[in-house]
Amino acid sequence: MDNAGITDPAAALAGKSAVPQHVAVIMDGNGRWAKSRGLPRIAGHRKGVERVRDMVSACAEKGIKHLTLFAFSSENWRRPAQEVQLLKELFLSALENEIRKLHKNNVRFRVVGDIERFGEKITERIRQSELLTQNNSSLTLTIAANYGGRWDIAQACAELARRAVRGEIDPQAITEDSLVPYLSMAGTPEPDLFIRTGGEQRISNFLLWQLAYTEMYFTPVLWPDFDRTQFEQALDSYTGRQRRFGLTGDQIEAARHA
Ligand code: IPE
Ligand code: IPE
Ligand code: MG
Repeated sequence: MDNAGITDPAAALAGKSAVPQHVAVIMDGNGRWAKSRGLPRIAGHRKGVERVRDMVSACAEKGIKHLTLFAFSSENWRRPAQEVQLLKELFLSALENEIRKLHKNNVRFRVVGDIERFGEKITERIRQSELLTQNNSSLTLTIAANYGGRWDIAQACAELARRAVRGEIDPQAITEDSLVPYLSMAGTPEPDLFIRTGGEQRISNFLLWQLAYTEMYFTPVLWPDFDRTQFEQALDSYTGRQRRFGLTGDQIEAARHA
């Protein structure tokens, strides 16, 4: 199943494997990690970048094709201006330090979200990095930055509406599939496994559309402590599950043995 549309159960079953094809992560708990050590919150975010590096190499090793990381939500602008500023600086420096290595390792880098709000310098650097790595084929690393699931659906609807006004689309013919090409994750299969660290059990406006049939994994471990062993545990949990996509367990078993 390497299509970009809405998950088709038959295709998903045919492609069933022990390893998820796409892992999406809410990297939460950096602030609490730092606070518990008497450090400024940014120290937690810095430590978090190290975990991103580990996660990218773990995914590449395991043959996971897509890794999507929530780095900054459209609601995170509500944080103190100083934290927002430091996060922007950290994002820029991490990008500058890592992009060559990502490229060397055949990783395709991409950012989804309304990035222009980060300013010209970051926007330009993101575009360059995307361009540099666009033909890489080992792992697609997608960073969600100034991203919100509702924003994503709304901007896709706006594009559909523009096309309808131009007469390119018949509003009567609009289905769920019609929206998919305009969502920012178009071209990427829906996540198989979702991980949220930091103990909260919520989606916080992440990939609302795409998580419809994703397996959810919540852990109290804070993101700066989420090492390879923790990731293995999440993968083991995924492997042990039966995905049914609305079918019955018997149907799934029959399909598996067919
Ligand atoms: C997640 O960690 C990173 C971002 C949202 C940028 P937090 O900064 O939310 O950490 P906690 O939840 O306050 O511990
Ligand atoms: C979600 O974490 C966003 C990111 C990890 C980037 P938050 O810490 O912002 O989520 P809430 O506010 O606890 O729901
Ligand atoms: Mg948080």
